[in-house]
Amino acid sequence: MKILVINGPNLNMLGIREPEIYGYRTYKNLVSFIKDLCPEADVYQSNHEGDIIDKIQQAYGKYEGIIINPAGYTHTSIAIGDALKAVAIPSVEVHLSNINEREQYRKISFVRDACEKNFMGNGFDSYKDAIFYLYNRGHDT
Ligand code: DQA
Repeated sequence: MKILVINGPNLNMLGIREPEIYGYRTYKNLVSFIKDLCPEADVYQSNHEGDIIDKIQQAYGKYEGIIINPAGYTHTSIAIGDALKAVAIPSVEVHLSNINEREQYRKISFVRDACEKNFMGNGFDSYKDAIFYLYNRGHDT
């Protein structure tokens, strides 16, 4: 299955940024974690909203699933949510931390409506849950 994993701003700083929230494993560790589970996944990271939108648009006709951690853009970007709706590829929102149990402003997600599911609060395993969801989607297991 062709899956595109998109990671938003500051996720490249994993291991350095707020380790008490995001842990000590690095972004490189995250990419290996995803690739071990799903070798055919393409993993993309950008700190720029427009680049993320371009990547989603380019996914049209190429990918069967999108896993997205829009990071800070989760709470601000109507345009990323619109891009996901535009391509209509089955999408899953993921977060390392549980955004519902943090600051009030993190409780809003502008991508939630564009995604079939969300997984959060499980660190790297949130991505694992999303991969399993996309693989099992449509199968009664
Ligand atoms: C995050 C949660 C966001 O609120 C935050 O801005 C991030 C990371 C997470 O994975 O827990 O950068 O998406």
